[in-house]
Amino acid sequence: MAIALYPGSFDPITLGHLDIIERASRLFDRVVVAILKNPTKNPLFSPEQRVRQIQQATAHLPAVRAIAFTGLTVNCARECGATVLIRGLRVMSDFEFELQMAHTNQSLAPELETIFLATNHEYSFLSSSLVKEVAKYGGPLEPMAPKNAIADLHALFPPKGEA
Ligand code: PNS
Repeated sequence: MAIALYPGSFDPITLGHLDIIERASRLFDRVVVAILKNPTKNPLFSPEQRVRQIQQATAHLPAVRAIAFTGLTVNCARECGATVLIRGLRVMSDFEFELQMAHTNQSLAPELETIFLATNHEYSFLSSSLVKEVAKYGGPLEPMAPKNAIADLHALFPPKGEA
């Protein structure tokens, strides 16, 4: 059985992430979406909230599960039995860091392959940080994030007229 691990911060999940998860789930028997618990990043949502957001947004994908992890991604992959790490590439500027990360993971765990999926061009501008910024200023989030993540964002940043 081919298991892929898709690691990231997902604070919150965006439509770009969801697109990568959907496509990865067509390529692998199982996809584990792994949320890094990284308190130094001062996330907006707790790891538990992000796990729930991803579980709800991927409820239509039975091969997908979401977990939170600490420590090295390669150790998380080994614990999950994953042989592949998935990362999305949006634009050229992503590439340098992604390649450095892939090489680091390769040196730590040569048995793991990193596979890059080109982000759907519709979502190439999207990032969790920009989604949070748009939410903060009351902008429309429908083109950017799954409905349940939007509801969580609206709970923190009520849309204009509802504050
Ligand atoms: O969504 P992000 O923030 O771009 O994801 C980055 C992430 C979580 C994949 C990366 O920071 C990571 O793998 N962190 C865990 C620590 C680790 O394994 N470091 C070595 C590889 S860079």
